[in-house]
Amino acid sequence: MTTAILSALAEEQSGLVATMLQPQRRVHAGRVFWTGSLHGKDVVLALSGIGKVAAATTATALIERFGAARIVFTGVAGGVGDGVRVGDVVVAQDYVQHDMDASPLFARWELPGYARARLACDVGLSAILLEAARACVASAQGPFDLKTASPALQVHHGLMASGDRFVSAAHESDRLRAALREAGHDVLAVEMEGAAVAQVCLDYGVPFAAVRTISDRADDAAHGDFALFVQTVASRYADHMVRAFLQRL
Ligand code: ADE
Repeated sequence: MTTAILSALAEEQSGLVATMLQPQRRVHAGRVFWTGSLHGKDVVLALSGIGKVAAATTATALIERFGAARIVFTGVAGGVGDGVRVGDVVVAQDYVQHDMDASPLFARWELPGYARARLACDVGLSAILLEAARACVASAQGPFDLKTASPALQVHHGLMASGDRFVSAAHESDRLRAALREAGHDVLAVEMEGAAVAQVCLDYGVPFAAVRTISDRADDAAHGDFALFVQTVASRYADHMVRAFLQRL
């Protein structure tokens, strides 16, 4: 059974590629895929690309071309929920596309043809990922050297929102969150790809789980926080969590 490890950022993937056994590099659909074995598991590694369409193409290729039987997605996100701070980790329970709006034909945020706004992640896979994330965060204060985060890092489990925009203004993230909340969607974090991969996985019946480290608060400082975080922390976080996840599979 092949497990796909999908990374949002090259920094998250490089350490995994370096330690794969029998690594093979293959190019398909303008993307690089690495097949091989990690921690005794058959894996295929890919970068999602940025935005929903790029990520959907990558996910489709992973399933159709590389036989991925489950997909685990790592990346960073902007925290919008109360108490979701830089350095915290969010394991997705489900996803909404915050930029989906086919109203008045369909309810706001509803995915036409799916009769729902929210796409659930696989419960079993998410439980393993949650356990792996908790183990990593518990040991994070030392090895990760997180200067930007508060001392008590937390792992959250809940709703994530994806959309084709980098949310980088407090007024925008407040508005986005308040509107969704009014409709019963209490979002913890925003990013740009996860919901698209969740939708592809639903179409193919492939279990999907996702974890994102909070790099910024989707506010006016988001851009600077994001860049610093990716360089210093995100790569180590993802590497540790993927390894802990594979060991628990
Ligand atoms: N990924 C990380 N931070 C983000 C933000 N503020 N908006 C969208 N995607 C993100």
